[in-house]
This record gives sequence, C-alpha cells and structure tokens, in this order.
Amino acid sequence: MSASIIDGRASAARLRKRVAERVSELAKFNVVPGLAVVLVGEDPASQIYVSNKTKQAAEAGIRHFDHRLPASTTTADLRSLIRQLNSQPDVHGILVQLPLPKHVDAQSVLAEIDPIKDADGFHAINVGRLVLGEEATVPCTPLGCLILLRETQPQLAGLRALVIGRSNIVGKPMAHLLLQSDCTVTIAHSRTRDLPALCGQADIVVAAIGRPRAVSGDWLKPGALVIDVGINRIDAGEGKTKVVGDVDFESAVQRAAAITPVPGGVGPMTIACLLMNTVNAAVRSLREPSVPRLMPTT
Ligand code: GUN
Repeated sequence: MSASIIDGRASAARLRKRVAERVSELAKFNVVPGLAVVLVGEDPASQIYVSNKTKQAAEAGIRHFDHRLPASTTTADLRSLIRQLNSQPDVHGILVQLPLPKHVDAQSVLAEIDPIKDADGFHAINVGRLVLGEEATVPCTPLGCLILLRETQPQLAGLRALVIGRSNIVGKPMAHLLLQSDCTVTIAHSRTRDLPALCGQADIVVAAIGRPRAVSGDWLKPGALVIDVGINRIDAGEGKTKVVGDVDFESAVQRAAAITPVPGGVGPMTIACLLMNTVNAAVRSLREPSVPRLMPTT
C-alpha cells in the first residue's frame, strides 16, 4: 500500500482564494485588512518566513506594515511598539515573529498585543478561549493541520490522535483542536516512554518535534493519517542541503493511508491561515452582519 499524498499547496491556494474574496467584500466598506509584522534580529530562517508572509499578504490584498528591528531591541521597546500598533486603526492583525532574542521576555511582549489583533493566536486570552472551546483566534500551524486532516477524513470523532511535541505554537493548540474534534488525544514529548508503541495505536499522528525523520514509518498503525509539521534542513551531500520533515517519509508512505509531504504539506497552510486570521480580525472590526468571518471548512 502506498499512502495518498496530502497536497498542502493546493489546499492553501483554495484558502488564499477565499481570503482574497473576503478582502474584496471588505473593500465595499472601505476596509483594507492590515497586518503588522514585527521581526527582531537577523535570524535567516525568520527573515525568509516573514518575507513569505508579507508577500502572500500583499497578493491577497492585505496591507502590511513591516517593523524590522535590531537584535538589541529591548522588551520595553517592543511593548511600546505593540501599544502603538494596538491603537493604529488600519492595523487589524499583529504578528511578532518568534523566536525573539534571548534577552527579550517574549511572553510579556505577546501579552501586550490586543487579543482582537492577535493574528497568531498566541495571547493568553486566545489560548484560554481555545481551551474553553469558545470562539478564539487559533495558532496558524495547528489550524492548517486541522484543515488538512478534515479535508482528508471528515469524520474525526472517536479517532485516536497522537500529537508529538508540546510547544505553545503547535503541540498544545493542536491537541486542543483535536479534542474539540472529538478525537481521543495523547500528547507525547521528549520524556515520553515507548513512543513507537504509542504511534502504533494512533489513527492520526501529528509530528512537531523539530528533529529530522525522527518518526519511523514502521512505528505507524497501518492506515494512519500522518501530518508532518517538521521543517529540517539537512546535509544532502556534495555541499548541498535539503529540507525533510520529522517523519521518515520513505518508510511512512508505505504504511500510512495519507501523509503530508515536506515541503508542500503543512508549510503553505501556515501562511494561508495567518491571512485568514488577519481578514477575520478586519471582519470583526467592521461589525457588518452581511460580511461573516471565514470559517476553516466552508
Ligand atoms: N515562529 C515559528 N512559527 C511561528 C508562527 O506561526 N508565528 C510566529 N509569529 N512565529 C513563529
């Protein structure tokens, strides 16, 4: 058996199209969704992520406000910038690219963002709403994973889901989204015992560990759905590098029913969901019943 490959690029393109349509509807009310993007320091990977985000925002008709700051920026400077963005009416969404330099208190910076403008869903209010099952802005990567899962398997209720990784950005919100979809959820992490045995029981595996090919295909339950969040650059020999996921794709594709590739799986969904969150923040600010929020599955 060979798994079907979940096409994240195609799914993200469909979502971006819906975002662009909603942007056009907002234009009738003279609202242009605006996203403020804050990048501190020179981390090369963060620079690439941020330029992809702003490029795709512009393509969808979302205005972006770029704030590129030196690595020496203090927590107080950042909090002051966030307060300014909170009060700027043409900014509907605010994103602070993580990780921040070590000397910055990231939690206090994120706490300064007005929860209504929290495009990443990292503010404690949005985290709390997600846990309570209330309407919340949901972090982009796990939201993208959920959309891909639902498109692949509309009936998630009762399935056993294993989330590998417990980060605030992916693992924890992913577990809560799966719980809300009525899955039976296990969270595994670096101290988990016998990960292969847990994998062998899971109908859904979401791997967000940050270690190349850490999940072996022969651990999987035959017919599992596999969502690979990893983006790991490895040495490919002859001075070249390549990007691989947290799952060993070659062996997993023999056992899974469906699997996301890396690249071309979860990655494109993250940015599309960021655009959706930004447009939804603009829709909320308009308070016009004829322009509803975009929902993940409609
Ligand atoms: N760093 C890694 N992933 C993310 C993300 O989804 N949002 C932000 N702001 N920073 C990140």
